[in-house]
Amino acid sequence: MVTAFVDGWDFVQVLGEGAYGEVKLAVNNETQEAVAVKIINLEKTPTAEENVRKEVCVHRMLTHEAIIKFYGFRKDGKIQYLFLEYACGGELFDRIEPDVGMSQADAQRYFRQLVAGVEYLHSRGVTHRDLKPENLLLDDVDKLKISDFGLATVFRYQGRVRMLEKCCGTVPYVAPEVLSRRPYSAEPADIWSCAVVLVALLAGELPWDEPTYGCQEYCDWKDCKITLTPWNKIDNLALSLLRKLLVENASKRYKMEQIKKHQWFTKTFYKRGLSRVASGSPTDSPSGPGVFKRMCSRVDTTPPGCSPGATVSSSQPMAYRADSQGEVTESGTGEDHLMSFSQPVQADKMLLSSQIQGTPGSSQTPMQKLVRRMTRFFVKTCRDETLSEMYKVFDSLTYTWKKSSPSMLTVTTKDKRNNPLVFKACIIDMGDNLLVDFRLSKGDGLEFKKHFMKVKDRMKAVIRKAPPMWPLHPTR
Ligand code: ADE
Repeated sequence: MVTAFVDGWDFVQVLGEGAYGEVKLAVNNETQEAVAVKIINLEKTPTAEENVRKEVCVHRMLTHEAIIKFYGFRKDGKIQYLFLEYACGGELFDRIEPDVGMSQADAQRYFRQLVAGVEYLHSRGVTHRDLKPENLLLDDVDKLKISDFGLATVFRYQGRVRMLEKCCGTVPYVAPEVLSRRPYSAEPADIWSCAVVLVALLAGELPWDEPTYGCQEYCDWKDCKITLTPWNKIDNLALSLLRKLLVENASKRYKMEQIKKHQWFTKTFYKRGLSRVASGSPTDSPSGPGVFKRMCSRVDTTPPGCSPGATVSSSQPMAYRADSQGEVTESGTGEDHLMSFSQPVQADKMLLSSQIQGTPGSSQTPMQKLVRRMTRFFVKTCRDETLSEMYKVFDSLTYTWKKSSPSMLTVTTKDKRNNPLVFKACIIDMGDNLLVDFRLSKGDGLEFKKHFMKVKDRMKAVIRKAPPMWPLHPTR
């Protein structure tokens, strides 16, 4: 399962995948340093080259504690590698209890960090354009890190601001003006997405499929029908902030300065005990039985007002990538400074020495880093017994599955809206224990989580209940 990629570094785990390829965890076998490597195979996705170039140009400009660090870029024939800070706490998405959300204290803490990160991006003239919980990662001390700059672009360069025209992002999170045919301002559009993220944090569901008049939930919000879900789950003070953020007219929408002064943002929330979800162990349930509602609508049709020619080449399965017209300005992003480690020896050096900014992931062992995600459990059975148990359970759930490698099954099913859901179940040898790791390949993340819970329930006879040998609760 462990594959060497450059001297001294091993790919130990797939962290995520999207249309471009995969993100893998690479661990230095001497120092135990961990980095995330985004791998793009241009043979499989030839259109990705220009998008990757822009992603690198933008990401390398950014240094902030709430932004995933960019370490470097390397080309090796048709394979391109982006070396990134590894966020071992997984996605913010995994801290949201479906249909419930999280405590206001947790939501406020994450929202403040999100605002700090987005404010920094804007101060550098960069807009992210695909802010959503799946793109917000967490480190070992639960600090939020904005990731995936595949859709980011420069909107201000040398003091000159330009309007944007590309319709891109993930529809439930995009601002209404992004779906219009007209040019739109970058900053308010990101702020709208932050507000939708806040609804997801506080209510565990998304407010609408899209912010258009064809969508009843959006019309209800515009008509102030706040007795309906998700608004009836949200405290009045938070609602008053959302009322200022989810404002259709982008010029009247709250700006960063106003957000930071709002009472919900500044208020001190006291937490009772540890948060329910963040303290999870591999055998903890990430959610109650509640029904997920539209947490992540798929984007496989062109939304109203979007050019049907927009290219979809996502680093996340559900985002619009519409960068065919090259929005990153050459001079503005300093492409001449692009680190292009076409020689493997240079990539080695980069990863082994001074070009790594900081000491990535030094506070946990790789084993500890691996167990934080919630869609996994330890088993007491051997590999073959675990596989036969999985075959039985997958058949009982009428999943279509195939063995994609000796320790990996690829499962295909449909979610409740009849959209395809594809995930992988991988058996990882952790020394004394076997870990079964489930990872979404295609489809709605929250639907995937519900299926995982069903599988876990049916596999409970073989799941190891005793806690692993190391502490799992995040230190805060
Ligand atoms: N998934 C995608 N990018 C990641 C990163 N940088 N760290 C951890 N998981 C990821």
